[in-house]
Formats: sequence, C-alpha cells, structure tokens
Amino acid sequence: MKEKLLKIFADHPGQFVSGEMISQQVGCSRTAVWKHIDELRKNGYELESAPRKGYRLVSKGDGIHPHEVKVGLTTSRIGREITYFDATDSTQFTAHKLAQDGVGEGHVVIANEQTSGKGRLGRNWFSRKGTSISMSIILRPKLPPQKTPQLTLLTAVAVVRAIKKLTQINCDIKWPNDVLLDGKKLVGILTEMQADPDQVHSVIIGIGINVNQQKEDFDPTIQELATSLAIVKGETVERAQVISAVLNEFEELYDLYVKEGFGMIRTLWEANSISVGTYLYARTMRDVIYGFAKGITNDGVLIVEDQEGQEHYIYSADIEIASQSE
Ligand code: BTN
Repeated sequence: MKEKLLKIFADHPGQFVSGEMISQQVGCSRTAVWKHIDELRKNGYELESAPRKGYRLVSKGDGIHPHEVKVGLTTSRIGREITYFDATDSTQFTAHKLAQDGVGEGHVVIANEQTSGKGRLGRNWFSRKGTSISMSIILRPKLPPQKTPQLTLLTAVAVVRAIKKLTQINCDIKWPNDVLLDGKKLVGILTEMQADPDQVHSVIIGIGINVNQQKEDFDPTIQELATSLAIVKGETVERAQVISAVLNEFEELYDLYVKEGFGMIRTLWEANSISVGTYLYARTMRDVIYGFAKGITNDGVLIVEDQEGQEHYIYSADIEIASQSE
C-alpha cells in the first residue's frame, strides 16, 4: 500500500494529487488514504495537504523500508522479496539462514543498523545506525564454487555504475572488491557461499555502502581510511535510492553474466579498476609480492609479474598501489 502511494507521488513530482485519485489508484477508502499519509509523515515524509487539492510530497524521509526501496526498482527478481531489520547482528547471518530455509534467488536482507557487521578476512564492519547501507543478496547460480569470485567482481561493477548514475561520482575498484573514492573506502563487498565441492547451493553477497556518514561517524581507527557519498557530495544522499539503483544495475549485469558468461563483466571491471596496469604490493597470508598487475584471470584471480619476470596468481590479499615502479 505504502509502495503504491509513494509511486503515485513519484509520478507527480511537486504536484498535488487529490485524495479521490489516490483512493481510486490504490483501491482503498479516503479515510485509509489519510491514515497512510499520516504513517508516511511519522516515517519522516513531509506531505502538504490542501483543501480541494489533495496531497503533495514536499520531501522524503531517509527510510530504507521495503516499500521505499521497491518504488525505485526496475528488476524482475532481485529485491522483489526483502527482509528488513531496524537492527540486526549482520545481514549475512540472516541471509545464510534464509538461504538454508530455501528462499528464492534475489531475496535481499536489509538492515538500518548492524551490531556485528562482518568484513573480509575476519574483520569487523562498522556502520552507524541510519547512515549507511547494509544489505545481503541471496543468489542461486548454477556454478562450480571456484567461479564465485566472479560474482564479487560483478557486484563491484554494479555498485560503481549505480553510484555514477545516481550521483555522477566516479569511483575506483581496488582488487578484489573495494570501491574507493579519492583513495578512501566507500564500499565493502563480502561474498560467501553454501556449497558442495562441485556445486554451489547459494551465494550471499554482502554489500556495505557508506552513504551519509560524516568523518566523526566512523570508528576512530578508520576515520582517515573511509569516506562517504555525503562527504564527497557535500549533501545527504537518499539511501533507498542508492539501494534500488544498485539492485537494478546488479540484475542487469547478473542476467548478462548468466546468459553470456564472465567476458563482458571482466572488461567492465578492468575499465573501472585501479589495480590493473599498475605496480602494487599484494600482502597475502604468507608474504608480500611486489610487481606489475597484468590483469585478472577468468576466475577473477589477480596476475602480478614480479621484477624477476615471474607471474604470481593472487587469490586473496590486501593490495597497496605503489606510487611508481620501485
Ligand atoms: C569488507 O571487508 O570490505 C567487506 C565488508 C562487507 C560489509 C557488508 S555490510 C552488509 C553485509 N553484512 C555484513 O555483516 N557484512 C556485509
């Protein structure tokens, strides 16, 4: 109901819409319309009402409830089912449980606050309540487990494209899955799966996006390393719009991937990546490799050629871009 109401206001930007028209389109009484308008106001929406004119949306709240996300969706599967939490430990945990319970492909878990957000390599992921995006997408691709890193790269491309469309901001991708802005971290992506040795059952793609934090909202340990869309743009950005834009781009790329394979995604990833065609340090669990990043393999593995001309295949590492050939 709220989704339909928001869709009507989205179709009439800045205009009054009569209560009668709303009640016809939504299929409920004028009193029910009034109640829903009241609820929207409680959710932070500013709605003007005028006798004989109806209602006009003046400004939106910054909610990320399912109805607020769905208004902007153009997808057919991704994000059509959403599980929402005001607060939860980690959307990854819930998504794993839902996947085990058999929910379908494209189900998305969204939280306004995570109390135990998970990062890569066992790290924590901090996100202050109401300022960022924490979501996990459940997929059921017919893939062998070793191909799932491709989906991480696909996600990074989807996020970069969505941010560009919505805010005109160009971000960089740092292998494998960091999205950076001015060299600082804007987005983290964590891909996990449930699989047998030769068959994936589900892939859980966790996406954390820094949207409306100011510097002091970040944990002191990462204040110099992280940034947000609001810091760069100098104004707040509607989180629901960012979520829908990411899910829209994601579905487009995922459909392409399922139909045609990784080739095109790889090209798009390389076009947005700062980790290819440059010298870098790759800190793996065992050692540090310095060399020239030649590209990625079809499985998303980074190829680094060291100064002796030996090629290293990097599966997991922290990357530091070197300022020049050293
Ligand atoms: C990274 O270390 O860069 C990955 C961070 C991934 C964070 C997201 S937020 C939504 C989802 N839930 C989590 O607990 N983690 C991921």
